[in-house]
Amino acid sequence: MDKFIIRGGRPLHGEITIGGAKNAGLKLLVAGLLTSERLVLTNVPHIADIATMRALLTQHGLSAEAVNGDKTTLSVGGDITSTEAPYDIVSKMRASILVLGPLLARCREARVSLPGGCAIGTRPVDLHLKGLETLGAKITLENGYINARAPNGLVGERIVLPFASVGATENLMMAATLAKGRTEIVNAAREPEMVDLANCLNAMGAKITGAGSGHIMIDGVEALHGAQHRIMSDRIECGTYACAAAITGGDLRLIGGQIEHLGAVVRAFEEAGVEVTQEGDAMRVRRTGALRGVDIMTEPYPGFPTDMQAQFMALLSVAEGASMITETIFENRFMHVPELNRMGARINVHGSSAIIRGVHGLSGAPVMATDLRASFSLIIAGLAAHGETILSRVYHLDRGYEAVERKLAACGAAIERVKD
Ligand code: EPZ
Repeated sequence: MDKFIIRGGRPLHGEITIGGAKNAGLKLLVAGLLTSERLVLTNVPHIADIATMRALLTQHGLSAEAVNGDKTTLSVGGDITSTEAPYDIVSKMRASILVLGPLLARCREARVSLPGGCAIGTRPVDLHLKGLETLGAKITLENGYINARAPNGLVGERIVLPFASVGATENLMMAATLAKGRTEIVNAAREPEMVDLANCLNAMGAKITGAGSGHIMIDGVEALHGAQHRIMSDRIECGTYACAAAITGGDLRLIGGQIEHLGAVVRAFEEAGVEVTQEGDAMRVRRTGALRGVDIMTEPYPGFPTDMQAQFMALLSVAEGASMITETIFENRFMHVPELNRMGARINVHGSSAIIRGVHGLSGAPVMATDLRASFSLIIAGLAAHGETILSRVYHLDRGYEAVERKLAACGAAIERVKD
């Protein structure tokens, strides 16, 4: 298992190109199941989760091939030969559950392993299943698998989500594109990735309006056709590198970063004393003065994204004064806290809230990655820490971030990957 060795104390200066969004790209690959023609995706990030999703699509009979040898462009297509998503793949990546709606819509049946929980929570999929049942699917759970059937096809209906679930919104939106009649999703997730998915589906011939609002309408069509779609830039990757620039007192231009995609994170940066501006196709981040403590509560978009919580906590660990972070989305997303405390942070967790008392400086230490975003929070701390930080289990990071050590080293960070 690879490790990172980081020597802190060097301000980051320069440019970082932000890649395609993991949490858009995974679903856009799945959208390839909805048509018998080819869907060409560009700006595809080179990350492990994308490789896992390509393997899952292959399992269903589709190919997701690099075009002209360039994995940044994938051509997805082929005939569905299996409607089963096996446990060994689904358990590796929970986003696999998103094949359920498209398989039901196209093939009128699906057998998908129930995804287990993961490090950050139990991650149930009840809203996905209830929504599909509202569209007419018959669903039973046996031997750890979801058996879903819709012999007469799905029928549009009004679905009210009790929680603005990202995955449930995406699963239902995709399923509804081929249902008979109109589907309404009320209290839908409003994340920018919903808009990106709807734009791609509409390019494929779907009839979707309202994506990005809490109320999405989908008028079913007979079939979808092929299309080409560029994946939006990864707003969480952008916010993550912004934290790295801020904690090191640097000045970074994040190419492809879009301020409006970061919602409440921009306000939190400004309150913390970090300057964030849009300069054409780049988001510029610099910190000249002292960092100030900020109170944060994670919420569905446009609130502060839970996927930025761990990274922002690392930043606040060296701010002047105290901060409080309340995690309202997942039940166990503070696993970076004990590792940050080993680096000299002063963070106390009380239920779903963490109190962060800013310290003058952190000290490098051997630390362990536990999940994707927690991994990067330890890198952010290591970039500011005095001395050497050794981050193990970097495979967590490789699931969702591309070429981290290359991007950071190019901006002056002392970071290297060592093969364990
Ligand atoms: C997506 O997960 C993202 N993953 C997550 O990013 C992100 O943190 C999350 O949305 C929230 O923004 C991908 O897009 C691949 P949810 P998802 O459905 O769809 C509960 C990362 O780091 N819930 O909005 O699973 C659930 O338990 C990852 O990139 C139900 O109770 O998120 C959780 O507490 C981590 N029943 C909350 O809702 C359901 O049927 C949010 O879940 C579905 C969800």
